Amino acid sequence: MNDSVLLKINHLKTHYHTPDGIVKAVDDVSFRLHSGQRLGLIGESGSGKSTIAYSLMRLIRSPGRIEAGEIVLDGIDLLGVSDEEMRQVRLADIALVSQGAMNSLNPVVRIKRQFIDGLENHGVRLTRREAHTRIIDLLVRVGLKPEVADMFPHELSGGMKQRVCIAIAISMEPKLIIADEPTSALDVVVQRRVMQTLLRVQAEIGAAVILIGHDMGLMAQFAERVGVMYAGKLVEEGPIHQIFRQPQHPYTQTLINSLPNLERKEMIPIAGRPPNLLHPPPGCVFHPRCPQVMERCKHEIPAVYHPSPDHRAACHLLDEPEPTRL
Ligand SMILES: Nc1ncnc2c1ncn2[C@@H]1O[C@H](COP(=O)(O)OP(=O)(O)O)[C@@H](O)[C@H]1O
Ligand code: SF4
Ligand SMILES: [Mg+2]
Repeated sequence: MNDSVLLKINHLKTHYHTPDGIVKAVDDVSFRLHSGQRLGLIGESGSGKSTIAYSLMRLIRSPGRIEAGEIVLDGIDLLGVSDEEMRQVRLADIALVSQGAMNSLNPVVRIKRQFIDGLENHGVRLTRREAHTRIIDLLVRVGLKPEVADMFPHELSGGMKQRVCIAIAISMEPKLIIADEPTSALDVVVQRRVMQTLLRVQAEIGAAVILIGHDMGLMAQFAERVGVMYAGKLVEEGPIHQIFRQPQHPYTQTLINSLPNLERKEMIPIAGRPPNLLHPPPGCVFHPRCPQVMERCKHEIPAVYHPSPDHRAACHLLDEPEPTRL
């Protein structure tokens, strides 16, 4: 892994202006990603994970709007560049593989043609022979047979289609791959294999990856760092082993405790419901569900604390005297 910072997100705020009011889907989120690094973003549905992904691609559409903050990729201020420059960045530097990616394949166009169109969109002109060699190489890299090039999407299983999307995503060797719940439409065994493929090719091309999901178990296997989202806020972030051994935020603890283990095969659902982001609770947004809630949590927004230099969490418990401390 290379040590240089590839991506900086500073104080990002992305809101949806709905007829019922403002939804603060991403509310003051900051994090960094190094070249080649694998960051997992985890949180319940509706916590703002996809809104971060779309903000990064600058694909937020009305009624959504990036209100404030900074997104810097490889030294380029993505919120400051023109639409045309951003289009180039999207084509060459960032690739998005989403849950529904496989449905974005054109059903009446052979796989080979979809690759060629993708490459041409990126301004890559190849002879027929060069294109053929490149496509076969990409397909084989993601574990597919060369024959797939001549097939139509409906002839492929969900897992195979998702592999084709990964192959298309890496065809331009992007610096950053955003994988937004890339396997959640697939069954568990296929999920794992597709994830392994995604991360193998990610390592081969040296891309960094933001892996978005809600399965802490899957994150533990594939991410180096993890960020925990709750109601539009990044409530904890740090190296995966520290998050598992010493989770600091009660929400992270709940996520980890809910995982199946040797004695218990099922995941425990988390008690309570995620907040309505139109009317988020005052103070700490997690307080109505927090098993360790204190009086101050109901009206004071917690500051961010650093239990170690590369680990942070936003919770008042980290500001309490030792005995109550986690
Ligand atoms: N187009 C939209 N219009 C209004 N609200 C939206 C829109 N897209 C997302 N939201 C709201 O923003 C919040 C975060 O959504 P999202 O980023 O999709 O979360 P996640 O990916 O973690 O499930 C949710 O409360 C969701 O209802
Ligand atoms: S600030 Fe309070 S309510 Fe929020 S997570 Fe910490 S202890 Fe729980
Ligand atoms: Mg999502």
